[in-house]
Amino acid sequence: MTLFKRTLALSLALLSFTAFAKPQPILVQGAMDIETSTLVNALEDAKETTVGSWTFWQGEIDGYPVVVSRTEVGLANAAASTTIGIELFKPKYIINQGTSGGHDPKLYRGDIVIGETSFNMGAYKSEFTEKGKGINPTKWQNFDVTMRLRENGELVEHKQFEADPTLVKAALSVAGSYEKGKVVKGRIGTADEWNREVDRINWLHETFGTSVEEMETSSAALVANAYNVPFVGIRILSNTDQHKQDFDPQTAVDCQLYTIDVIKALISNQ
Ligand code: 5AD
Repeated sequence: MTLFKRTLALSLALLSFTAFAKPQPILVQGAMDIETSTLVNALEDAKETTVGSWTFWQGEIDGYPVVVSRTEVGLANAAASTTIGIELFKPKYIINQGTSGGHDPKLYRGDIVIGETSFNMGAYKSEFTEKGKGINPTKWQNFDVTMRLRENGELVEHKQFEADPTLVKAALSVAGSYEKGKVVKGRIGTADEWNREVDRINWLHETFGTSVEEMETSSAALVANAYNVPFVGIRILSNTDQHKQDFDPQTAVDCQLYTIDVIKALISNQ
């Protein structure tokens, strides 16, 4: 074979590989069945895989690969399932979505927060005080997360994790068609907590600038950050004690429907 023919054959092989290679999927997470079943139903040809306690459904939306992940509740579950999800499916993007409790008094049940930032709201350190001096939660300080850089092993402190700007933009791009409330950018506080004392909720909001609280986003964001996978959290207010609005399960469905619109926008922008 002449050099020309060999180069031509190689180029054609490469071209067909790129044309037919499957694109990296979008990984979309929810903690509970009520936060994942609408997404799973939106998948074409869903195939279920369970590793440990964590289930994934691989399928397609608008012909593009999407993996729905049920993380289960809380930080440890979110970290474990995100790690498995990245290792198994090598996603292009990760979207963590679901319900949350309102901190910002301007927000009501049904409003959606696009998390520009998220942080571990339940990580605390306190100053030493003598025996008998009591317990003073409002004096406790938030504890930064230390992560090691893959490239050079350097330790980096994170006060918070930032969402990927392209994903934030895509998440906001479909806000115009959402009819159940406002869509705002905000800060997600993650903790293995469910706070209902309004004074504490106000203290958290004033001290840390939280829009909402929930139990998974910053943990999934930490793992996504370690693997350099673009990430965003989309959280709907399912309840807010700022306005005496109790948990409404319909909000979990509405958040998934919103997220499906975001996924479609991302796919059409490819
Ligand atoms: N506080 C904490 N978590 C909440 N969730 C919904 N509302 C709240 C709230 N007010 C979500 C968490 C978790 C599940 C219990 O519901 O993210 O997955």
